[in-house]
Amino acid sequence: MSPTSTDIFQGWVAHDATSPLTFTTFTPKPFTETDVEVQVSHCGICSTDLHTLRSGWAPTDYPCVVGHEIVGTVCRVGSGVATLASSPASPEIKIGDRVGIGAQSMSCLRADCEACADGQENYCTRITGTYNGRYADKSKSYGGYATRWRGPAYFVFKIPDALPSAEAAPLLCGGVTVFAPLQKYGAGPGKLVGVVGIGGLGHMGILFARALGCDRVVAISRTSSKRKDAVDGFGADAFIATDEEPKWARTYSRTLDLILCTVDAPDMPLTQYLRLLKMDGVFVQVGVPEQPLPPLMAWSLIQKSVKVTGSSIGSPEDIRQMLQLAAEQRVLPWIQKRPMNDVNAALADMHDGKARYRYVLENGTDAQAKL
Ligand SMILES: NC(=O)c1ccc[n+]([C@@H]2O[C@H](COP(=O)([O-])OP(=O)(O)OC[C@H]3O[C@@H](n4cnc5c(N)ncnc54)[C@H](OP(=O)(O)O)[C@@H]3O)[C@@H](O)[C@H]2O)c1
Ligand SMILES: [Zn+2]
Ligand SMILES: [Zn+2]
Repeated sequence: MSPTSTDIFQGWVAHDATSPLTFTTFTPKPFTETDVEVQVSHCGICSTDLHTLRSGWAPTDYPCVVGHEIVGTVCRVGSGVATLASSPASPEIKIGDRVGIGAQSMSCLRADCEACADGQENYCTRITGTYNGRYADKSKSYGGYATRWRGPAYFVFKIPDALPSAEAAPLLCGGVTVFAPLQKYGAGPGKLVGVVGIGGLGHMGILFARALGCDRVVAISRTSSKRKDAVDGFGADAFIATDEEPKWARTYSRTLDLILCTVDAPDMPLTQYLRLLKMDGVFVQVGVPEQPLPPLMAWSLIQKSVKVTGSSIGSPEDIRQMLQLAAEQRVLPWIQKRPMNDVNAALADMHDGKARYRYVLENGTDAQAKL
């Protein structure tokens, strides 16, 4: 049996909600004819990894290997992939290709599923997350803090040549999570867009809002510490520091058509964010705090006919369009590379809000990565 077909993988495994990750073995899903295997070169650290590791939203199914901003090289292709009819793009995947995997690894793909049949696989009720999930055969899904990943070709995406692997990794979850709602709610010429929370998702939100040609992009952060990066680096036209400008909600009232909120904490000034919307404006929540959102007075919705909605990652087609736009317009996330071996320190730094603006774990050429 060749080394690439072994059924024992190695990665950074969480055994409970509090202990550090340990580098050890785990058993991936059984390989099927529609699966591929990828030698992982890079994996971004998304805040969702932290929520899952600490069982922040719900009890996690330990042992767990997180990581769903995965880039690597295809090292095994199932015999059925070349003729996979359900996904026109998947048959093109070949050994040696540079590919990415995001936060979703499977859905039901049934013709009678409203979401799947409509190309909105990310809203399928039988979604399999790239980690902490179960495939239809009940086997567990494991993510990219590992040397290798295995899963369905349907949710594996070719990385355009113009995108470096490390920068491409955060696009697979964070990138599409901001791109999909921006596109859905019409971000583009003529639109005034705000992005709240300038972290991993938020900074990519500014970059994509710019790439889509919005008239004005406003970065909304707690303090002014990220102002220079947001304005000079990501291309924001304006910056609001909500903890430092006492009357900000009144000053900037009715100035935005669309707000994308990436905030990860429950104590956000939601009522004030909604004041920034123009009549009929749309507020899209993508951040997922571990506690309920703040209460709202009905007036916040009624006075201007605003819409409050949410958005979850993106469909395979969204991911392909997002990667194409990123390649064409050079939408490159700001990343800091960390050796995969330093994953526990990188997670601690991410928790402390030190990432500028996305940590990307990198597998080295040491003995560990060859296993
Ligand atoms: N919907 C989806 O499909 C999806 C996909 C991926 C991730 N997520 C979720 O999106 C959230 C953000 O992820 P991320 O990786 O971008 O995290 P991140 O890099 O930590 O960014 C979160 C940002 O939220 C802001 N923030 C934190 N506490 C705040 C508070 N109390 N009030 C106001 N703003 C606050 C901070 O921005 P400032 O410093 O600028 O204030 C911070 O940079 C997480 O909840 C994650 O689980 C959702
Ligand atoms: Zn994510
Ligand atoms: Zn479905």
